[in-house]
Amino acid sequence: MQLKGKKKGDSMKSNDYGPLFPSIPRVLHGADYNPEQWLDYPEILTEDLRMMQLTKCNVMSVGIFAWSSLEPEEGQYDFAWLAKILDDLYANGQYVFLATPSGARPAWLAQRYPDVLRVNKDRTKNTFGLRHNHCLSSPAYRHKVAKINGELARRFGHHKAVIGWHISNEYGGECHCERCQSAFRAWLQHNYQTLDRLNEAWWSTFWSHTYTNWQQIESPSTHGETMVHGMNLDWRRFVTEQTMEFMQAEIQAVRVDAPYLPVTTNFMEAFEGLDYWKMAPLLDFISWDSYPTWHEPRTEAKKASWVAMIHDMSRSMKQGKPFVLMESTPSATNWQPISKLKRPGMHLLSSLQAVAHGADSVQYFQWRKSRGSSEKFHGAVVDHVGHEHTRVFDDVREVGDALEKLSAVVGTTVDAKVALIFDWENRWAIQDAQGPRNAGIHYEQTVHAWYHALWQQGVAVDVIDQTQPLDAYSLLIAPMVYLLRPGFADKVSEFVKNGGVFVATYFSGIVDEHDLCYLGGFPGPLMDVLGIWSEEIDSLYDGETNRLHIDPSVYQGMKKSYDVIELCDLFHTKTAKVVATYSDDFYAHRPAVTLNHYHEGHAYYVGARTKQDFIDDFVSFLLQRHSVASHLNTRLPEAVSVSIRTNGRDQFIFLMNFSQKTQSIMSEQLHGRELFTAMAIKGSIILKPFGVAVVQQS
Ligand code: GAL
Repeated sequence: MQLKGKKKGDSMKSNDYGPLFPSIPRVLHGADYNPEQWLDYPEILTEDLRMMQLTKCNVMSVGIFAWSSLEPEEGQYDFAWLAKILDDLYANGQYVFLATPSGARPAWLAQRYPDVLRVNKDRTKNTFGLRHNHCLSSPAYRHKVAKINGELARRFGHHKAVIGWHISNEYGGECHCERCQSAFRAWLQHNYQTLDRLNEAWWSTFWSHTYTNWQQIESPSTHGETMVHGMNLDWRRFVTEQTMEFMQAEIQAVRVDAPYLPVTTNFMEAFEGLDYWKMAPLLDFISWDSYPTWHEPRTEAKKASWVAMIHDMSRSMKQGKPFVLMESTPSATNWQPISKLKRPGMHLLSSLQAVAHGADSVQYFQWRKSRGSSEKFHGAVVDHVGHEHTRVFDDVREVGDALEKLSAVVGTTVDAKVALIFDWENRWAIQDAQGPRNAGIHYEQTVHAWYHALWQQGVAVDVIDQTQPLDAYSLLIAPMVYLLRPGFADKVSEFVKNGGVFVATYFSGIVDEHDLCYLGGFPGPLMDVLGIWSEEIDSLYDGETNRLHIDPSVYQGMKKSYDVIELCDLFHTKTAKVVATYSDDFYAHRPAVTLNHYHEGHAYYVGARTKQDFIDDFVSFLLQRHSVASHLNTRLPEAVSVSIRTNGRDQFIFLMNFSQKTQSIMSEQLHGRELFTAMAIKGSIILKPFGVAVVQQS
């Protein structure tokens, strides 16, 4: 069935971005580099330069956590070592992301200005130590950070080696000191203007929580307030905005003397504590740190698709612009429960997976293993042995060689006609909800399950939040959109009216942006477009199942019945027609899946949580029925994925085998030149275990 009406999916997005850094028309390859740990070992620093060349590394992130070496005593700067390192790196062929050092502070700073120390949710105050534990509203901290950032920019902002700012490192956490509480109250006052509005939004008559003075409001506390959902949501929004404000102050400080250098901060995967979508516009390019636990038994494909999802989200945060893989480990981490080494092939495969989904860089934590302290066993390009004759070094060299052959990919993007909603505010609200399933509501896993089906079927996906435009897409999947952000329902309605295909699931359209339930029936403002009314939701114990029944002669490719687990929506059709019904229990024969024809488009409601098999088959059915193209229009072997980067003229087909078996892919669309072997490809390709190939079509 072709989409009718206005042709969906005619993207207005660009697909030819050019290099992120005009001076480097190549894929970046590099690492976090901490020469400050080795200043007393000059021969090691010389060795580093030699070995960087062997790996074809062209970028290093320098200065992260180096504050006490840059300013050993207050106001006494020692930049000579950094100047030499930058000169040496530049002469050696490496550019630099220069970090602001705010991720960890020197001891003198904590001693002299104790208000920089964070107060935790239980109101205990930290002592000096660790990293990432500052009060972001501390005037002393802001002042000192602005000062050192400004000094760094003045001294190095025009250094030939420096191509961008690595602002701080993995922002995260929150402070509950008196100053932060006041800032929270001011934020609330600014947003609500009156206490009446705040009380209404927080539904504070519940348990007699009505506030009659702004001073009565305290931030969430382990021994105080945790149950006012509107407050929890606002606190999380505040923490994101407070972090943004701090980050902006950092950016302003470096821009005084280096106004043109692009800035980024490294995101931590799908870190729940900060709404990365809000932070993204403040950055010139997105970067993130990826640490999957590869090789857990039976989970390789799921791991791979989760990482792919975060890559796709990182690309989508800047509407398709290539991003930077700022950190990954060349071998194992040291902080996960099991530090398993990457099996042969996995380092190249996982590195190129980032590029396949839109990264124009592959970088590591860390260049050289530290000698002491907590990260001394974390994987690094150079191990304690100090030379290049190691398996890991060879793996990194292999990546360097491969990236050199991918220069033409730089600046291209992935053109997606399918969008999947993964929304932070929704996520926060779902986490907070008590009922219907406190034993595991599984929002992230559900979003991922839908992503996995698309990934396994070779479909390009943008992973977006509810604030993003929808007009570039023909299929929109929104699992568990429990909290509807302002304007989202209207956007969906327009999208479907204009011929789009929309899929929503159980537990959608329940609360507004204040976490207040919609009155008049669920799924609230999505009721018309979905054509249903959801009356109740049943929660099943772990291990319990119901089944849903579907007619495969109508819904081609589907099986007759599927297991249903955990959550079953008991809903009524209004204008929708029934696609599948429940098989068991007192709600047997009632609708489980429906389809509403809404103007020119289609809106599906999947009322029950299913296992992966239903989602896989249903996605496959949707793609067929609504003519949504997959990358190669072929059935991919299990754990094999495809991603295509394009600039509108050339196509780069990345083929990745995340299984331990040799796999072959066949497709009439697969022809061109394989970039690593220079072989001509015509209709099929064989991938070895954990193998990867890139076919260029011009
Ligand atoms: C990152 C962090 C790095 C390093 C790494 C270890 O989260 O940014 O500094 O600690 O983890 O995996």
